[in-house]
Amino acid sequence: MSSLTNTLFILWLSLLSCVCTVHVMAIWPGGRSTRFYDFKIQTMRVTKLCNSNEIVTVNNMFPGPVVYAQEDDRVIVKVTNQSPYNATIHWHGVRQRLSCWFDGPSYITQCPIQPGQTFTYEFTLVQQKGTFFWHAHVSWLRGTVYGALIVYPKTGVPYPFKHPHEEHIIILGEYWLQDVVQLERQVLASGGAPPPANAYTINGHPGPNYNCSVNDVYKIDVVPGKTYLLRLINAGLNMENFFAIANHKLTIVEADAEYTKPFVTDRVMLGPGQTMNVLVTADQPTAKYSIAMGPYMSAQNVSFQNISAISYFQYLGAMPNSLSFPAKLPNFNDNLAVKTVMDGLRSLNPVQVPKEIDSNLFVTIGLNVQKCQSKTPQQNCQGVNNGVMAASMNNISFIKPSVSVLEAYYKKIDGHFTEDFPGAPLKFYDFVNGAPNNIPNDTQSMNGTRTKILEYGTRVQIILQDTGTLTTENHPIHLHGYSFYVVGYGTGNYNPQTVNFNLVDPPYMNTIGVPVGGWAAIRFTADNPGVWFMHCHFDIHQSWGLGTVLIVKNGKGELETLPHPPADLPKC
Ligand code: C2O
Repeated sequence: MSSLTNTLFILWLSLLSCVCTVHVMAIWPGGRSTRFYDFKIQTMRVTKLCNSNEIVTVNNMFPGPVVYAQEDDRVIVKVTNQSPYNATIHWHGVRQRLSCWFDGPSYITQCPIQPGQTFTYEFTLVQQKGTFFWHAHVSWLRGTVYGALIVYPKTGVPYPFKHPHEEHIIILGEYWLQDVVQLERQVLASGGAPPPANAYTINGHPGPNYNCSVNDVYKIDVVPGKTYLLRLINAGLNMENFFAIANHKLTIVEADAEYTKPFVTDRVMLGPGQTMNVLVTADQPTAKYSIAMGPYMSAQNVSFQNISAISYFQYLGAMPNSLSFPAKLPNFNDNLAVKTVMDGLRSLNPVQVPKEIDSNLFVTIGLNVQKCQSKTPQQNCQGVNNGVMAASMNNISFIKPSVSVLEAYYKKIDGHFTEDFPGAPLKFYDFVNGAPNNIPNDTQSMNGTRTKILEYGTRVQIILQDTGTLTTENHPIHLHGYSFYVVGYGTGNYNPQTVNFNLVDPPYMNTIGVPVGGWAAIRFTADNPGVWFMHCHFDIHQSWGLGTVLIVKNGKGELETLPHPPADLPKC
């Protein structure tokens, strides 16, 4: 959209929405204006990679519809599930201030919306703007059920950089020629690792490197000399990705919907769950340039898709059928390229980082192998050493309960979760090079639905420590309900004696790629009551149990108290 149409569009949206604000119940925090959307989750037949498949979509669009709003707006989305699967929608990066009931992770804040059922999500974008996305948060439905959520600054508030000529949304994805709900079931039943995706996609298109995809390609037409804002979103399931445009520099100006100091780079890396805004100026000779998305794989012995998804950055006046300049991506295991981008992420302005810490958590993250218990090991124990793959935080694999943790907590229903998630591993050892249990090759974890209770207003620090129990790996760890300051990170085992934290301008993020064989330190103030999932944003690791739940208690008074659940909250 050009800036003019853009402004007109926002104006139109605001006009549309003020008529409707009266419907908002006074009990929920009110926004400036209200945006209404209607989501129908439905199956659709698509042909990709020479195959025709049924995929689950929202409103028969892939990627799904874009939700537009402005800072402090209220968003109301009526979701009707017309698909044969259980569904929920999560608004990734939205902090859900006093609206935990509408966060969306299945069995954490709500039971799934069953086929034929409806649930209306309502939340306010309190002091939030930038590039977000929404995605299904049940089984692996996110594989095709995702779309952008774009929040503009308030009317009259400019971007902290020169207004771009146009903006484009670029959603990175992974595509399977298989029903992704069944795929998760099969992978879990096998005890082994998942197969790689059949293709990477950019806005749903694999591009010319894949079979039958020469015309299944996304393209941006650009005017020489103009600057473009690209809103990058990684909605992929199980892979982290590099992204680059041939012969063009990218200037990062926002990460996870918070402004950053401008940082110029040749490429970026996004893990699933991360978003990033970059500026690109069409300052090269008139031609067609490739936009490429390829793998970043930091783990050992994992098979992955190695073919890049390609789109075009095409100058006005370039021959449409001309060859494109190829984009150079780093090697799949280039950890330094990842670190360089991370080092460049600084909050635009000085920030208020908690200096005193009330609750200091140390959380290991990694993979495990459980002993085979099956009578048919050939079928069910295809993990490493004929075991069953698992993953854990502090060596506890998170088991989702059969009702939502939030409902069980709020209504005081016993027996669905415990409050004993440990603030540190039971044992300290060489996390990066050792194994957790007495016998060095015992790589098992415990199972449980263990949560950590935090008093309202607790200033929290979490050290996330990667383990090498099976293989070290960069894990994109996502926290619901909050953004956090990434005050430090490094390789090896975390050593409090030698760290040097950035308490001046650390990035304010919601998903942190914890360095492979290393650690990251995050800080936030627990001032949003509710039940908040913290998990690896690789769906396979989530399925294997790499997550935990933080329960933040109510404070005093109405503004520190979670309102009662909505009447249409789905039942299990
Ligand atoms: Cu983007 Cu718990 O998810």
